[in-house]
Amino acid sequence: MLREEIENLIERAIHKKAFVERPDDFNYGDFSTNVAIKEKIDPQEIADKLKESPLFEKVEVVNGFINFFLKPEHFLENLSQVLKQKEEYGSSNVGKGKTIVIDYSGPNIAKSFGIGHLRSTIIGQAIYNLYKFLGYKCIGDNHLGDWGTQFGKLIFQIELKIKNEKLKIHELTIDDLERLYVEFHKEAEQNPVLNDEARAWFKKLEDGDKKAKEIWQACKEISLKEFARIYSLLGVKIDNTLGESFYVDKMQPIFEEMKDKDLTKQSEGAWVVEFPNNELSSLVLMKSDGATTYYLRDLATIKYRLKKWKPNIIVYEVGVDQSLYFKQLFKTVDLLGWAKDVRFEHIVHGLMRSKTGKFSTRKGDTIHLEDVLKEAINKAKELSGEKNKELAKQVGIGAVKYNDLSQHHSRDIVFDWDKILNLKGNSGPYLQYTFARTQSVLEKAGGSPTSVKINKVDFEVLEEIEKILLKKLSHFNEAIEQAAITFSPNLICNYVFDLAQSFNLFYNEIQILKADTELQKQFRLALTFGVGQVIKNSLTILGIESPNKM
Ligand code: ARG
Repeated sequence: MLREEIENLIERAIHKKAFVERPDDFNYGDFSTNVAIKEKIDPQEIADKLKESPLFEKVEVVNGFINFFLKPEHFLENLSQVLKQKEEYGSSNVGKGKTIVIDYSGPNIAKSFGIGHLRSTIIGQAIYNLYKFLGYKCIGDNHLGDWGTQFGKLIFQIELKIKNEKLKIHELTIDDLERLYVEFHKEAEQNPVLNDEARAWFKKLEDGDKKAKEIWQACKEISLKEFARIYSLLGVKIDNTLGESFYVDKMQPIFEEMKDKDLTKQSEGAWVVEFPNNELSSLVLMKSDGATTYYLRDLATIKYRLKKWKPNIIVYEVGVDQSLYFKQLFKTVDLLGWAKDVRFEHIVHGLMRSKTGKFSTRKGDTIHLEDVLKEAINKAKELSGEKNKELAKQVGIGAVKYNDLSQHHSRDIVFDWDKILNLKGNSGPYLQYTFARTQSVLEKAGGSPTSVKINKVDFEVLEEIEKILLKKLSHFNEAIEQAAITFSPNLICNYVFDLAQSFNLFYNEIQILKADTELQKQFRLALTFGVGQVIKNSLTILGIESPNKM
């Protein structure tokens, strides 16, 4: 990366570590550093040393800052690269030979797919696409919540209804399952013995009891059918859906290893893990009745992933409410000494709230994701016209995704329909609209620029907005890399929104098709093409479609 190259140049010149930044205003150069102020060195002296580098057109000192202006050929050459590389522009092979496992989505069966899992799915998929773009081998794993004591409750309740009310399990919907679960809780409040019954059912399930297994399997199928519909609406496909139940027969050796390494001890019948110096609160590994836990299943999952995929990084895209849990989990792996050189990361996401505090829902206060997505598509129809269903889907779903991705993942996000679908603001539809605009310009011109002599263009005579666009196009790689390093897709959004705004200024100020000379026209078309391509590449990483017309 250019930034590092310049930092290294400075470091070699002054034997001090330097950081360079991109000034907001190009009048202060393409890069700038305050190292002279920090290290109390004469800035002119540093500037003089660096002037000779073939990278720079000029190196200027202003108020102690050293500003670097890149040679214009750099930007022109970059535009040629966009034209040449197209959908590969910005991709790289920095991740070559490295593997990342991305644990995302992870909905719980027998419950409807909620807004929280939506965030995980959207952010996780963007991280997946981003790392793939950078040459990593990516493994997506949907750690379905399909095991745990709650299923004992559900099975108990279903079994009762089968006996007493001739309930037909295969006719149930996910809403029914949710209702039965709530019913159980109400009844257990009156009659706490039911909890023992439920525990017994989960125990049976863990021991492989046929009837328990059958009911559980039916619940799982009903749920998976629902989830499949949502994934199809979202246009998401996850490589693996192993789920918690996959690890049922893989937990015992982990439990033994935990005991052997003296990492767990019995307390009131349960097996508990305490952390050194009590730096983290303790956690139950196995319940007193021998029932396994989410925690033990996660340890078995890690063991499996390490062996199967030999990853360099494992990331979890899960809500902020599990922050402490992931600290405990990662610490346990550390204590087990399993994977000293594997990086574990919990990419936190905040809650999603609606502006009015309420989403449109079918019933009660559970937010049904499918309703939100359908509402998005309906609202998008108002933007894109009633007729084109596919377009409404692309715009509506894109809008929901962009709303999520454009804010830092750790923050709570507000669901405000006006903002999400605003064609003028920082929204998915705005970017799609800008992309469609670039395509319509190119269409009017009779197609994409092919043989543009970009190296014949004189940078100095370009209009200001053309220079700005040209420069901004060259920042794409940096935005991508920063987003990947910090697991922050919002950095791609910031970048591409800014680029789109500059393009729209250019579009309004400049006669693209009625240029003075053929070279000028071809150059402007090349810029238009470049912007379109970079918007499209960004949206593709974000998991958002780029329709040609809007
Ligand atoms: N099913 C979990 C939940 O809804 C998320 C799973 C996250 N992944 C993991 N390996 N724990 O909270």
